[in-house]
Amino acid sequence: MQIRVEKGDILEKEADVVIVGCLEGERVKGGALKDVDDALDGQISELLTAGDFKGKHNTAIAIQTLGHMAAKRVVVVGLGKKKALTVEHIRQAVGMGVRKAKRYRAESMALVLVGAGAGEQDVMAVAQAATEAVFLAAYEYDVWKKKDEDAKELQTATIVEKQAGRINRATQGMKLGIVMAEGALHARRLVNEPGQTMRPRNLKEDAERIANLSKHVSVTIYNQEEARKMGMEAFLAVAQGSDEEPYFIHLRYTPKKAAQVSVALVGKGITYDSGGLSLKPSDAMKTMKMDMGGAAAVLGVFSVIDRIAPTVEVHGMIATCENMPSGKAYRPGDIVRAKNGLSIEIDNTDAEGRVTLADSLSFAVEQKPNAIVDMATLTGACMIALGEEIVGLMSNNAKLSKKVFDASNESGEEFWELPLFNGYDKLIESKVADVKNVGSRWGGALTAGLFLRKFVNDIPWVHLDIAGPAFAERHYLSYVPLGGTGVPVRTILQFLRSYR
Ligand code: BES
Ligand code: ZN
Ligand code: ZN
Repeated sequence: MQIRVEKGDILEKEADVVIVGCLEGERVKGGALKDVDDALDGQISELLTAGDFKGKHNTAIAIQTLGHMAAKRVVVVGLGKKKALTVEHIRQAVGMGVRKAKRYRAESMALVLVGAGAGEQDVMAVAQAATEAVFLAAYEYDVWKKKDEDAKELQTATIVEKQAGRINRATQGMKLGIVMAEGALHARRLVNEPGQTMRPRNLKEDAERIANLSKHVSVTIYNQEEARKMGMEAFLAVAQGSDEEPYFIHLRYTPKKAAQVSVALVGKGITYDSGGLSLKPSDAMKTMKMDMGGAAAVLGVFSVIDRIAPTVEVHGMIATCENMPSGKAYRPGDIVRAKNGLSIEIDNTDAEGRVTLADSLSFAVEQKPNAIVDMATLTGACMIALGEEIVGLMSNNAKLSKKVFDASNESGEEFWELPLFNGYDKLIESKVADVKNVGSRWGGALTAGLFLRKFVNDIPWVHLDIAGPAFAERHYLSYVPLGGTGVPVRTILQFLRSYR
């Protein structure tokens, strides 16, 4: 996909589809919408008066231009009420337009800065959000499908702006939007690849590729033997049921100017979670290729980190393996020792993510970062609590969690805080070890968070349970197609940008 900003008149732009926005409950007053309405002999005004289209959020209409404009069709996307308008609404509206364009098999698309006119939103923010929406909504996981010879794909998108004074900021926004989207798409591709082609070694190779392509990123890989020498018994216990070699991946980004602050990003990297000996029911297993969604997010961030150029040092840690049942598999009742010395009683081999994270977090702590953010498709319980669309956030530090929340407000990704309730620490007490890997039936997302807390040593830390939002089994947002979503890559990139 090629995207560009162009100074010009939307009426003269040749394209298969043109996207313009319309606020709810207002007449066509000015801007691009009025230009298009006039060119189309007042068709849009007519539809508004008739009530066929009201400009409501999440609605759109398509109109054939019949030669009245250079473009073949206009898609008017609803922006909702002006008072409630946000940049995220614009992202969703443009995503809606892109989906319509795809349905028309459009190869070229043009759009105006939807919401930056009558909507009065910031030009740069709109350009960024619109660009993200274009890339995120156009993406589809079809690498395993037979290529349809005459299938047409969206190839170009042009942001057309009349006012010369806005071109610079629009271009800046677009550039940032491209980087954000590419980071998220990188994660989506990794998540969507099935377990048979996305093994631990494939994540390792991806990390090596990223480091090779960048002057500022380096990587150290530890194989099973080397991880054993580092004392990662907990991680290796999870890995031992599989024939695939596990890897511990340590990525490092060093900014041009020596940094005072460093941030560690830790991702859960189970390339397939069968549950192990505590085997999952078949239906629960179907989507478990996504259990490396946290690792994919770390790699997505690192794949574009150069272009974001944060001023802080950034570490990425991934302990990657499969969770399989076999004669070599770890068992319920086993006791394993994590890198930081704590012993863990295994109550259930399906609560494997936290066992691998125990070692990743211990490793992260040894790097003495100023902040740790872990991302993990950790618990079904978090999905029970928050549903499929919301990231569960837990933290031992209000300042750091605010920073992450602020970033999520910019990215449009939804986060909600869950408590690190000390009172539930007793639920993960073990009679035979320092901690056990599951609590009671209730509050499973919370006891998972409390388990992780034992491995972060009071370093400011945010835990993101992405079990729901990392993977879309249902279509719920215009720019989020089925499968891997790339959540929370854009939030983390924005979070890293916020250190200035
Ligand atoms: N990978 C799963 C969590 C998960 C479930 C992610 C559904 C995405 C969708 C995790 O390893 C797991 O199996 N957790 C168990 C923990 C339980 C055994 C305490 C769960 O949530 O059921
Ligand atoms: Zn599991
Ligand atoms: Zn898992």
